Amino acid sequence: MTQVGYSKKVMDHFMNPRNVGVIENPDGYGKVGNPVCGDVMEIFIKVHNNIITDIKFRTFGCGSAIATSSMVTELAKGKTLDEALRLTRKDVADELDGLPPQKMHCSNLAADALHAAIKNYQQKQKLK
Ligand code: FES
Repeated sequence: MTQVGYSKKVMDHFMNPRNVGVIENPDGYGKVGNPVCGDVMEIFIKVHNNIITDIKFRTFGCGSAIATSSMVTELAKGKTLDEALRLTRKDVADELDGLPPQKMHCSNLAADALHAAIKNYQQKQKLK
C-alpha cells in the first residue's frame, strides 16, 4: 500500500509499529490528547540507572500518530532521560523523513507523551 504524501518510513512504522503495548507497573506514564482531532496517546517507560530500558505505547489515533509513536519509542529506548527529554517533535518527524503538512500536528503527540512519561517518573522519584 502506498499513500501519496507519506514517506516509506511512515508507512513502515504504521503497518509494523514497534513497541506497541502496555508495561504493567511502569516507572513513568504519560498520556496526551490532541486537541485538533481528539486522538489520544499513552507512553509507558521503565527506567534503570537513568536510562530508558523499556518503552511501549498505545495510541488511539490516525496512521501518522501511530507511526510517530512507534518512531519515538525507537528513538528513546536506550537513551538517558536527559537525552530523551531533548527529543523534539521535529526530530520525530525528521526521522520519519517528514510528514505531510496537514499531518504535522499528529507528530506532536509522540514527543509530548514521551516527555510526560519522563516527567511523571521524575516526580515519583522526588516523592520517594
Ligand atoms: S489526526 Fe489525530 S493524531 Fe493525527
